[in-house]
Amino acid sequence: MKKLFAIAILATIILGTSCQQQQPVTQTPEPTPESNTTIEDILSRRSIRAYKEQDVPRDLLNQIVECGIWAPNGMNAQQWEVRIVDSKEWLDNITAAYKESVKGTPTERMVEQPEFKNMFRNAPAVIFVAHKPGHCTQVDCGLMAGNMMLAATSLDLGSICMMGPIGFFRTEEGKPFLESLNLSEGYELLLCVGIGYADEEPKPTPRNMDVVQYVE
Ligand SMILES: Cc1cc2nc3c(=O)[nH]c(=O)nc-3n(C[C@H](O)[C@H](O)[C@H](O)COP(=O)(O)O)c2cc1C
Repeated sequence: MKKLFAIAILATIILGTSCQQQQPVTQTPEPTPESNTTIEDILSRRSIRAYKEQDVPRDLLNQIVECGIWAPNGMNAQQWEVRIVDSKEWLDNITAAYKESVKGTPTERMVEQPEFKNMFRNAPAVIFVAHKPGHCTQVDCGLMAGNMMLAATSLDLGSICMMGPIGFFRTEEGKPFLESLNLSEGYELLLCVGIGYADEEPKPTPRNMDVVQYVE
């Protein structure tokens, strides 16, 4: 009987392990007992697209941006510039111009939805990151954005990285808003990070651990 029990346990372990191997998609990352708050924040961070109508205090925005500036970057060249917009008026104005520009296109329906508050996935504060195009600068800015989003998570704030809205700044209608960001000569807008108090709890999006291999 004891032997049968042992075999059953062994089979469960083996089957369980092989199922995990066959199903590389991680649905809900579970912090392990060795996890710390950094790991928990990394695993629990989600892109947020619905925010409460609550301003983000500037001291928190400053902390988030400082964490971004402390990101590793190629040769510490820091070929980046950061602009923070928490003005509802600015965000509403650019969104109005964007809405006007998509009239008659398939995007028009999306911007007319009641849940569409602004073109930055409704975030009440947006951090714009520009780079002076160079060998490492896109990677640098991505690391900066990653730091910012993790800092936001640790401060109980929601966040989202976005490249979609950047295209609008290159249009004729978007030009005045690009100018208002006052970027230095040679700098190009690359991405933005929306920040705010989350008004949703999205489920984790699938991840594929099969892409990882140890090389012996
Ligand atoms: C470089 C980059 C650009 C992105 N651009 C957009 C965007 O324009 N609009 C959007 O809704 N989400 C955007 N995202 C968010 C991704 O869709 C999201 O990170 C991905 O689906 C994984 O979900 P998670 O962040 O909740 O884990 C972007 C993310 C990255 C890293």
